[in-house]
Amino acid sequence: MADKKIILTGDRPTGRLHIGHYVGSLRRRVELQNSGEFEKIFIMIADAQALTDNASNPEKVRQNIIEVALDYLSVGLDPEKSTLFIQSQVSELTELTFFYQNLVTVQRLQRNPTVKQEIQMRGYSESAEENANKAGTPVGFFCYPISQAADITAFKATTVPVGEDQEPMIEQTREIVRKFNSTYGDTLVEPEILLPDNASCLRLPGTDGKAKMSKSLGNCIYLADEPETVRQKVMGMYTDPLHLQVSDPGHVEGNTVFTYLDAFCQPEHFDKFGSCFQGRKASFEFHSLDEVKDQYRAGGLGDVMIKNFLFAVLDDTLAPFRARRHELEKDIPYVYEVLRRGSEVARAEAADTLAAVKRSMKINYFDAGVLDELIREQSEKYK
Ligand code: TRP
Repeated sequence: MADKKIILTGDRPTGRLHIGHYVGSLRRRVELQNSGEFEKIFIMIADAQALTDNASNPEKVRQNIIEVALDYLSVGLDPEKSTLFIQSQVSELTELTFFYQNLVTVQRLQRNPTVKQEIQMRGYSESAEENANKAGTPVGFFCYPISQAADITAFKATTVPVGEDQEPMIEQTREIVRKFNSTYGDTLVEPEILLPDNASCLRLPGTDGKAKMSKSLGNCIYLADEPETVRQKVMGMYTDPLHLQVSDPGHVEGNTVFTYLDAFCQPEHFDKFGSCFQGRKASFEFHSLDEVKDQYRAGGLGDVMIKNFLFAVLDDTLAPFRARRHELEKDIPYVYEVLRRGSEVARAEAADTLAAVKRSMKINYFDAGVLDELIREQSEKYK
């Protein structure tokens, strides 16, 4: 068990994936996949988790499975190297969840900061019983951190590359693992979180400058957006409200355009797209993002120029994904075949862990050899 490194991670299929997902997790996954450092990599489309707050809208979840799969494949996740699968097709996960539920208290779940925040954002109310207009928190939703522990441990994952908002889930998983192992004997692997190393990628803000990209806020740039759409979204982006005239000194911190550049800009982009900084009124020659920032702070560098550059940088990243997506969209049977096969592989892996869990809990009554022993033991009692 010692040196094997295994990845499990995934996403809820509630919409197409956006560039926040990309810098927060997808880009890293592809790098890790291609690093050859991992013995196994499991990437899960978490449809069952998506249903915990979409019970009345299963069609939305169903439609988005293919969207997420297309996004995965188009950014470079490779089914030859990574197992892509659908959570609901691995029923062993629900069985593990059922046993883990006994190791977690209601009070501990109530303290989970991500769940707390999500309950608030969704408007689930404590007074739901008295107020017919308000919905309470679905039990399945409240418990999803436990099911997430099942997802991670079923695959013996050592490493979980996710965004910052998932930190409390990994922490709860680690607690469940320790509790299980100390109660029933060493069985489960304690995973570690792998966060993005670039601060701008930890939580990419929306195009409106709000803390997070979210479909409901309409402030996302999707991986599948066409260039014209990306351009419009970039041109409408929130910058520095105090930078009214081009000549005014500008602020870089909290300026969304610069946060995106921090997340996406590579040294070679200055050679490729330097012409964005050549205008009729003013021209600049920059060799690094720091130089651009210095000029912006000093004044004289307009938002439109930087937005043109950002668009070029983003499009440079997104164009190959878009091209691959268009190819894959012509071969939907292939995409489902990838998921079907992946789900089969995932199921075998999870079944192996479930068997070990039942063995440790001694609820494997009818396993080979176990029944004989059980009969002997119980007969002894009644002699
Ligand atoms: N909660 C994750 C999200 O919101 C999806 C997810 C489900 C997940 N199970 C997981 C992520 C296990 C990492 C590991 O996107």
